[in-house]
Amino acid sequence: MSITILGIESSCDDTSAAIIRDGYMLSNIIANQEVHRIYGGVVPELASRAHQQNIIPVVDQAIKVAGISKNEIDAIAFTRGPGLMGSLLVGSSFAKGLSLSLGIPLIEINHLQAHILANFILEIGSTNHVPSFPFLCLLVSGGHSQLVLMNDYLEMKIIGQTIDDAAGEAFDKCAKIMGLPYPGGPVIDKLASEGNPDAFKFSKPRIENFDYSFSGLKTSFLYFLRDQIKNDPSFIDHNKNDLCASLQKTIIDILLDKLMKASVNLKINEIALAGGVSANSGLRYKVTSQASQMNWKTYIPAFKFTTDNAAMIAITGYYKYKAGLFASQDVVPTARINQG
Ligand code: KG4
Ligand code: ZN
Repeated sequence: MSITILGIESSCDDTSAAIIRDGYMLSNIIANQEVHRIYGGVVPELASRAHQQNIIPVVDQAIKVAGISKNEIDAIAFTRGPGLMGSLLVGSSFAKGLSLSLGIPLIEINHLQAHILANFILEIGSTNHVPSFPFLCLLVSGGHSQLVLMNDYLEMKIIGQTIDDAAGEAFDKCAKIMGLPYPGGPVIDKLASEGNPDAFKFSKPRIENFDYSFSGLKTSFLYFLRDQIKNDPSFIDHNKNDLCASLQKTIIDILLDKLMKASVNLKINEIALAGGVSANSGLRYKVTSQASQMNWKTYIPAFKFTTDNAAMIAITGYYKYKAGLFASQDVVPTARINQG
């Protein structure tokens, strides 16, 4: 018997709904919120208001595009956290209401686990290449940077994580320092492709074990620019591409260093990427090019599954459904989630 899951994602500034049937994506609708751009970051109150406007049309479209009727949905998976409380409340309240009206179960989803399981989304008509267990996942998003050991679909163990800023925050904050628009990651990625990654050197953290730190890099970037601007007020404009390329290279080196150490230490050569920063072309290239030297098999989600999307929520819901893990109507969203 086939299993059809509706996934709903509303943890930050994207409202998304998707249908997954037996692991295959039938639809994945995302409404981005442009309203935050002029503020240089996500404004929580505006985000929850936009979710309220978007949620019904987005879910409706996901069902239509999938070519199913709502009565064919077996369960509703929604993001419980981590994320912005006001945003999470919109998705979770909607999911609860719809589950009651359709008389189908609810499944609560950890947004970070979902980013990792995005590697298992199957698409009709494409070659589906998925990791085997155990595998190591470098999960890099706007709020998290973690090295996660996946022993099974629902068995995750965090073996390293950032002690301060996330990799995505490093991209976004350094972009802001250069006067680039939010979110800075994709903008830096684009400008970096035209620059010299060895033009400037920035400090790298010395942290024990498999943990990360990015706040020192942000500070060294800020002080470096302050000094240079004293001599040349147009320093940023004159060197934008080289600054982006050098900064991006430093972030990638920091990420790869711990990933390689963890792979050697745990003797795992199945390596996956996940999260918004895994859309970065430099990171994707570096991980792929490192593969033969490290004897890795690498798995990198399609671009559309790296940043926030509901297909990743629905695929996680699919595996939780098969494991019989359902939520009650009392479930409440949570801004933080303690994992592994
Ligand atoms: O996973 P995500 O969509 O949301 C969170 O759960 O945080 O990640 C968003 C982060 C932002 O910091 C954004 O700048 C970064 O992913 N990002 C990128 C790229 N695309 C998105 N960073 C570097 N290069 C990119 N191409
Ligand atoms: Zn995310």
